[in-house]
Amino acid sequence: MALGAEILDDPSYVVPPVPAGARGVAWLRSQVVRFSEGTAHRRRRALTERLLDELLVNPAWHDSPTVVLAVSLGLPPAVVDDVGLVAASYQPHLPVTAEADEAVERLVEQCGGRDERTAAVICLLVQAHDATRALIEVRAGNRPAPPVPVTRRVSPDGELVEVDLTEAPFGRGRHACPAAGLATVLADAATGAGER
Ligand code: HEM
Repeated sequence: MALGAEILDDPSYVVPPVPAGARGVAWLRSQVVRFSEGTAHRRRRALTERLLDELLVNPAWHDSPTVVLAVSLGLPPAVVDDVGLVAASYQPHLPVTAEADEAVERLVEQCGGRDERTAAVICLLVQAHDATRALIEVRAGNRPAPPVPVTRRVSPDGELVEVDLTEAPFGRGRHACPAAGLATVLADAATGAGER
């Protein structure tokens, strides 16, 4: 049974820990805000918010929100294919494919090298990819709300638990989505809502 979203405010429920990794998806997971806690989370969260603040986004650039985001981050539209491959292996409960590892390496190259900023840029793209498409599908009536139905935490006694996001579609607490406004703008553009 899934727990309610208020658990996301409880510091004793932490994001699933990820092992350190030197390359590929393991490296990405170990560097991103999404799977960090404590001081690493605060530092990476500030970096992520800075990147988002600096973005100049024009939704008219492309139908794909991921392409719009990539271009605004200074990357070529073609990275969308690698972002999709990584997204399918990103969450720690998903198996990592060789294709996803190679896609991370190509993205690292495109972003100018392996550092925390590169990880933050890839994290923005991967977090945006499936979630924004799901938000657009929800708005079109093609899938039930919320777009991201559950997230996961590890309880104080070490148990992996699911958290129901019905009452908090963009999460809440320290890991709440830092891009809810941007995601809404992109989904509005894709569904034509911004034109009415
Ligand atoms: C431009 C599009 C998006 C970007 C760049 C983005 C980025 C992010 C990032 C970086 C995080 C991790 C924050 C942290 O751990 O401190 C996050 C978390 C989250 N995002 Fe988004 N996101 C986007 C769209 C969406 C959409 C459309 C939804 C669903 C309505 C969504 C739902 C969430 C949720 C529920 C979390 C929290 C997960 C948790 O606490 O376990 N995001 N997002």
